Amino acid sequence: MTDRRVVLVTGSTDGIGRATARALAAAGAKVILHGRSKPKVDAAIAKLSEELPGAELEGVSFDLASQTAVRKGADQILSRVPELHVLINNAGIFTDERMLTEDGIELTFAVNHVGAFLLTELLTPRLEASATRVPSRVINVSSIAHTRGRIHLDDLSLALAWTGYAAYAQSKLANIMHALELSERREPAKLLAYSMHPGVIGTKLLRQGFGPVQGATTEVGARTAVRLAGGEAADEPSGTYFSEGTATQPAAAARDAAARKALWDTSLRLAKL
Ligand SMILES: NC(=O)c1ccc[n+]([C@@H]2O[C@H](COP(=O)([O-])OP(=O)(O)OC[C@H]3O[C@@H](n4cnc5c(N)ncnc54)[C@H](OP(=O)(O)O)[C@@H]3O)[C@@H](O)[C@H]2O)c1
Repeated sequence: MTDRRVVLVTGSTDGIGRATARALAAAGAKVILHGRSKPKVDAAIAKLSEELPGAELEGVSFDLASQTAVRKGADQILSRVPELHVLINNAGIFTDERMLTEDGIELTFAVNHVGAFLLTELLTPRLEASATRVPSRVINVSSIAHTRGRIHLDDLSLALAWTGYAAYAQSKLANIMHALELSERREPAKLLAYSMHPGVIGTKLLRQGFGPVQGATTEVGARTAVRLAGGEAADEPSGTYFSEGTATQPAAAARDAAARKALWDTSLRLAKL
């Protein structure tokens, strides 16, 4: 990266997000680290500053499960950084218990999709206004689990058919549909949108969701987002889904334009936009 790009990485207190923030800061970007707890964000910044003296880092903490918190967090970001070039929607959870948020949405869908959707909408004007040299980017960290997902438009909180895996797979399918829909709704000269599967990466989410699976390092998991966040225009068109770095056709469910529009409209309603 040649210029100082400003990149917000959600969920960068741990796992793939932390490795992504580190790699981007090492490449010269100004990185805004985000997490749900301020002590963890402060600790992540302190550690990175020690490892990379001279790195330009900021922190913001808010719970993506709370729309009130997301709105406050977006306001803080907008007041603190005049330019924002890249938003990496990385934060995510896998739970083994069905819970509803204060907004009445199933927790996995609220954190992994609705919170990220709301944050993206609130930051899009700033992202687009910052696209002076190259287009700004939104990068959604999805998963290969999306191939097993189904959007239950009439029951997104899965009151009738909840399993941890069904909720996770639905939310990861929504991440890809969100990026594809953004690629169609936004002017590509100003904003490009991508989604990706990072690989099977040894993190707390992997252990929570899939047990003692041996995953690759978080540095490997960070590679695609780091490349897509770079200062040069990507070769692949906006909307591309990458599986472990390779442009790949996502599942048919993600390519259904009518389903994508329906999900977009419902997401606007759920996020009270
Ligand atoms: N690991 C894999 O094999 C794998 C495979 C495919 C896709 N992914 C995707 O990769 C992304 C990163 O996952 P990971 O494996 O790196 O997991 P991780 O190590 O558990 O990190 C998740 C990050 O998200 C944050 N987060 C969780 N809930 C939040 C909330 N309500 N509000 C704000 N921040 C929240 C976490 O904060 P705390 O530190 O406070 O928990 C943490 O910083 C996820 O979107 C996941 O679906 C992972």
